Amino acid sequence: MRLQDKVAVITGAASGMGKAMAILFAKEGAKVVVSDIHEEAAGQTAAEIKAAGGTAIAVKTNVAVEADIQHLIDHTVTEFGTVDILVNNAGIMDNFEPAGDIQDESWERIFAVNTTSVMRATRKVLPIFLEKKKGVIVNVASAGGLYGARAGAIYTASKHAVVGFTKNTGFMYAKEGIRCNAIAPGGVETNIGSSMTRINEFGMGRIQAGLALNPRNGKPEEIARLALFLASDEASFINGTVVTADAAWTAY
Ligand SMILES: NC(=O)c1ccc[n+]([C@@H]2O[C@H](COP(=O)([O-])OP(=O)(O)OC[C@H]3O[C@@H](n4cnc5c(N)ncnc54)[C@H](O)[C@@H]3O)[C@@H](O)[C@H]2O)c1
Repeated sequence: MRLQDKVAVITGAASGMGKAMAILFAKEGAKVVVSDIHEEAAGQTAAEIKAAGGTAIAVKTNVAVEADIQHLIDHTVTEFGTVDILVNNAGIMDNFEPAGDIQDESWERIFAVNTTSVMRATRKVLPIFLEKKKGVIVNVASAGGLYGARAGAIYTASKHAVVGFTKNTGFMYAKEGIRCNAIAPGGVETNIGSSMTRINEFGMGRIQAGLALNPRNGKPEEIARLALFLASDEASFINGTVVTADAAWTAY
């Protein structure tokens, strides 16, 4: 039991990697808060965990809304008394559009979900972590947060911002018992494609060359195992960094 009695908040936990993390963290003894904009699906994940003997609650959260983040953490404290682990996992794709085709609405929406939410949830849990002198944050960035064309310009910029925020937060609070790291997954078999509405053909054409280098796509569970490690005390010396999990896609 690597997370015995730890309280873990996971955003975007109704599907894909977040769901795999919720299930795995619960198996390892964590009390899991399954947070997602899709209330019913979040409830299903929590029910699955409980049916397997674990502890979980579902909390409807639109991570793009500050009041929802406040509620998520406040409700967690009411239910479980504290927060030990925050996984900022919720995220959406762009449509592979290059700079010239960006619409303000898309930029703002994607940054709100992928980036601003990470800042707000981190800001909200920090007083709890600082008081305990202990806490772990795991951000789900992307290979797109480290390299230039794993997605369109908005997604790429939004995840680069998460990487910078992760490093800054890790360093700033390194002497306060708090760790903050990010995961940079390559291609993973999830439902994220459903957040794409109309793919930009020019952008898709440019990205294609790099896609051919991807050795394989991963399973959500393969990312969940890395998240578990980073969230656990086994990763006590790992802070302010980004760990790729991409079958060597970015190694070329
Ligand atoms: N799938 C990949 O290939 C890949 C690669 C690198 C990084 N990522 C990142 O992994 C993370 C998880 O994505 P996934 O691939 O598991 O996708 P997914 O679509 O299967 O799961 C994402 C979850 O986030 C939720 N969500 C979306 N918008 C939300 C909002 N505003 N508020 C709360 N919840 C919201 C969705 O309802 C969904 O349950 C994302 O941050 C994504 O950018 C994915």
